[in-house]
Amino acid sequence: MDSSLRSDDSRSRRLSAGYAEAWRAANPGGVVTYRDLAADPLPHLDGTAFAAGITPEDARDEAQRAAWALTAQVAGEVRDADVIVLGMGLYNFGVPSTVKAWVDRIVAPGITVGEDGSGLLGGRTLVLALASGGGYAPGTPRHGWDHREPWLRHAFEFLGLTDVVTASAELTLARESPAMIPLDLGDAEDASFAAAQEALAAHARGTVAGAA
Ligand SMILES: Cc1cc2nc3c(=O)[nH]c(=O)nc-3n(C[C@H](O)[C@H](O)[C@H](O)COP(=O)(O)O)c2cc1C
Repeated sequence: MDSSLRSDDSRSRRLSAGYAEAWRAANPGGVVTYRDLAADPLPHLDGTAFAAGITPEDARDEAQRAAWALTAQVAGEVRDADVIVLGMGLYNFGVPSTVKAWVDRIVAPGITVGEDGSGLLGGRTLVLALASGGGYAPGTPRHGWDHREPWLRHAFEFLGLTDVVTASAELTLARESPAMIPLDLGDAEDASFAAAQEALAAHARGTVAGAA
């Protein structure tokens, strides 16, 4: 899955595509399902869609049935995957809003959440292929400002998924941002991207699964 609003210049799209390529090579018979949250954004969860999730199937009205069909499709994709690969940039220190809309959809009673409230996504792996304009590593002034992974870890742990793999291409604005150019970071951007790319490929090569 991708969520970058950019296309050719997107680092996270390159990272997620690299993961998929390596995974396909390691899993020739595997099935890959692709969703582009930027090109085809999901509607925000509204009252009808939320009500559909907590209304028994035979009691849903027509609008709720339509809303549930989309929820079931999107949540079903996640349930049916062994590995969920999510490419995204850092937008205002958090996930793109399209990713939030996706998460609100996949918290789906009967599909990803059991009757007793337990998460049903145990055994799956979430791979985060991240890009950010700045740097947020330990020791940097804005360490802790990147809220993507911490939030996603909690959201997915609620759904029973605890295996989260993260690779991040940082400093992608090092040569573009007027605030960053004077820092003269040299090839730090390229080194960060290459390290993330290699880490993801190594993980994908080691993953033998049925669906991603
Ligand atoms: C709307 C928007 C908000 C952004 N906010 C941040 C930010 O808070 N911190 C940051 O380091 N970079 C920020 N960036 C830069 C992106 O994270 C960076 O360009 C990244 O490479 C985007 O991912 P992509 O290369 O896959 O498109 C922002 C970019 C956009 C378009």
